[in-house]
Amino acid sequence: MAQRDSILGKQIHDALESVPELEDLGRQVKQTLHQAVLDGGPEVRNAVDMLHGTWLGHPLHPVLTDVTIGAWGMAALFDVLSMLGGGRASERAADTMLDIGTASAAATAITGLADYSTIPNNAIREGAAHGLLNITGFILNLISSGARKSGMRGLGVLLSSISFGILMISAWLGGELVYRKRVGINHNSRIRQPENWTTVIADADLQPLQPRRVEVAGEPVLLYRKGNDIFAIGAVCSHAGGPLDEGHFYDNCVQCPWHDSVFDLRDGSVVHGPSTFSQPLYEARVYNGDIQVRLVHDNH
Ligand code: FES
Repeated sequence: MAQRDSILGKQIHDALESVPELEDLGRQVKQTLHQAVLDGGPEVRNAVDMLHGTWLGHPLHPVLTDVTIGAWGMAALFDVLSMLGGGRASERAADTMLDIGTASAAATAITGLADYSTIPNNAIREGAAHGLLNITGFILNLISSGARKSGMRGLGVLLSSISFGILMISAWLGGELVYRKRVGINHNSRIRQPENWTTVIADADLQPLQPRRVEVAGEPVLLYRKGNDIFAIGAVCSHAGGPLDEGHFYDNCVQCPWHDSVFDLRDGSVVHGPSTFSQPLYEARVYNGDIQVRLVHDNH
C-alpha cells in the first residue's frame, strides 16, 4: 500500500521540493566530506568510524540527539515555569539546560556530518534540510544564551522559543530519514536459515578471487574463494543495501561499492563504517563437488 504523508509532512515535502538547489548543495557537501575522509588516511577513517558509532553497534548520532533535544526541551519547560511564577530558580535551570543542550549540539552536529558524508542518495535533500535547520536552531540558542547572560532575558527566551520550533521540524525530518528513508538502520533482514548444510553451486563454479552472489534460503549471499578458504557473508550491505559482490576485495575484506564500508570476510564484522552493523555470517564447505553453506549467525 502506498505511504501517505500527513498534512504537515506534505507541506514540508512540498517546501523541500520547491528548493531544488538543496539537493545539489547537499550532494556536493556529501561528496566533499566523504572524499576528505577517504583521502585523510587511516587515522581520519578511524576517527570518523568512532563518529559513525562502529564501536557502539548502532549509529551514535541518535544517541546524542536525545541529549541535545532533551536538554533544550527542559530549557523550554523551565522558561514556561519561570513565566508562571517559578522565579529565579526556574530561570537558572532554564539557562543551564540551554547551555547543556548547546554543548551537546556541537558533538551531535559532528556525528551528523559524519553520517551525512555517506547518506544514501534518496535522503540527501531531507538530510540537508535537517542539517541546515539544526544549524539555525543552534545559532539562535547561542545568541539566546548570550542575551540571557547580558540581562536581556525576554529576547533570550524569544530566540530559544523560535529555535525550539525550528528544531521540532528538524526532529520530524530526522524521523523521516530513519523510518521512511531507512538511514542508519540495518538493511539486512533477520536471517534464521539455513541451519543445515545447503548446496548452493558446483565447486567448479567458484573461481579464486572471483566473487559470486547466490541465493540461500531466499537471502543473497556473497561467496569468495581465497586460497583454501571459501568465505560466505550476506551480500546486502547492512548500511544501505549496497551489493557487496560488486565491491573491492583486498586482504580478507570487502569494501562496499556504494559508501565504502569495509567488512571482514572471515567473520562479517565491520572494519570501517559508515555501517555500524556486521554482516550475516555463513560457514562454507566443499562436499561431493558442490559448495554448501549454513548460517553461523545473523547480525541482529
Ligand atoms: S550501502 Fe552504504 S556502505 Fe554499503
